[in-house]
Amino acid sequence: MSAKALAILVAAGRGERMGAGRPKAFLSLGGEPLLLKSARPFEAATSVGTIVAVVPATDEEAARQLLAPLRKIVAVVAGGERRQDSVLAGLRQAPAGFDGIVLVHDAARPFVKAALIDAVIDAAARTGAALPVLPLVDTLKRVREGRVVETLDRAELGAAQTPQGFRMDLLVDAYEQAFRDRVTLSDEAVAVERIGRPVAVVPGSALNRKITTPEDLAWAEEILASPRVGAGA
Ligand code: CTP
Ligand code: MG
Repeated sequence: MSAKALAILVAAGRGERMGAGRPKAFLSLGGEPLLLKSARPFEAATSVGTIVAVVPATDEEAARQLLAPLRKIVAVVAGGERRQDSVLAGLRQAPAGFDGIVLVHDAARPFVKAALIDAVIDAAARTGAALPVLPLVDTLKRVREGRVVETLDRAELGAAQTPQGFRMDLLVDAYEQAFRDRVTLSDEAVAVERIGRPVAVVPGSALNRKITTPEDLAWAEEILASPRVGAGA
């Protein structure tokens, strides 16, 4: 591969489902802010060259100070209203002429491992776009007005995770078209899907769970305290 990957860490959400009254980025996990914890695996991955953090406009300076010890951080910028606005703000910080793989990762997923980062980069370099997908364990029901209207075939369904990886030119093109068409994107891969380009799948990880609710945060603390899984998490 030509260049090392650029990782965009998105942390500019409001954290409404967490209900902490402030963004999740600064909530403590294992004694350090979630944002720092999720930046560390990218700082450590030899396949990643640079990291851009996208944070709430109100916390830009605090985030800059928090991330200052990390060598690979090249920019800390304010995000936007929607996730895709935050990702775009991050993309604009890419080093001039960058044409490698860009990764977009939820700062709310602190337990991502180097092996998953590398698998996404490799698949994205081959296909153009790739993301981790976790198979579902529960049977899924389509529910309308409190009643089951359909049972879905779990075999064809999976939960999308991050990091999602893309060839830079493909993501920029897909984003330009999505913004031009005024589409709201639930993740980055959908921008590529909707222009008919292939998106590869690598196996997701249960440990790579998104910290969304207070229950998720409690789970994450337990993981860190567990001698088997917590070591190195
Ligand atoms: N995110 C972002 N900019 C937004 C919305 C989300 O950078 N406008 C980021 C979040 O900070 C988070 C990731 O996208 O790291 C996944 O989003 P989610 O878990 O939904 O976080 P929040 O949007 O903060 O939480 P909530 O939806 O409960 O408000
Ligand atoms: Mg959200």
